[in-house]
Amino acid sequence: MLIVVAGLPGSGKSTLALDLGRALSCAVLGVDQAEAAMWRAGVSPSGPTHHAAYLVVGALAAEQLALGHDVIVDAVNGPEPARAQWRDLAAQMGAGLRFIVVDCSDDRIFRDRLKRRVRHIEGYPEPTWEGVLRRRAEFPPWTDARLSVDSVNSRETNLQAALEYLSGAQSRAGH
Ligand SMILES: Nc1ncnc2c1ncn2[C@@H]1O[C@H](COP(=O)(O)OP(=O)(O)OP(=O)(O)O)[C@@H](O)[C@H]1O
Ligand SMILES: [Mg+2]
Repeated sequence: MLIVVAGLPGSGKSTLALDLGRALSCAVLGVDQAEAAMWRAGVSPSGPTHHAAYLVVGALAAEQLALGHDVIVDAVNGPEPARAQWRDLAAQMGAGLRFIVVDCSDDRIFRDRLKRRVRHIEGYPEPTWEGVLRRRAEFPPWTDARLSVDSVNSRETNLQAALEYLSGAQSRAGH
């Protein structure tokens, strides 16, 4: 199964993706980590490293799926072509696809978390609140079936909801 954890910068994707990775003992592949590694290697950030990072993660995810392993992708997935990449990959590999979209419904908490958060991705700039607002305004509505998760809820609550969704216990109709 290909599990894609998506949502705005700072919404709580990596937190849930890693909690799920621990619970399911499967690989978690982060697009930001792949892009930062390219920059550390000297690839210019002015090049298409963002797109390249999605392709790198897609290639690694394909190998996991070919092995019959579940894999979790951690990426914003704003533009529609990013989302289409995962639909196409799952179809190609004959794997199930589950989108889990994380948001934080309380802007005060969202902004405060973003300010305090320290990521350990060497060379990757921290997103700003202004950047989040800009991305939010551009974020196309989701059309795929998905689980929507609000990171105002506790990590435990969200992990449980995600595990239930993945096990099929919850309706997969988009909501
Ligand atoms: N359910 C939660 N309860 C409490 N804190 C949370 C929760 N989810 C996320 N956080 C906190 O919010 C901050 C942002 O979370 P995280 O780094 O997972 O976001 P992200 O969507 O991966 O961001 P980015 O796109 O910038 O990588 C972190 O400090 C994290 O600890
Ligand atoms: Mg992250």
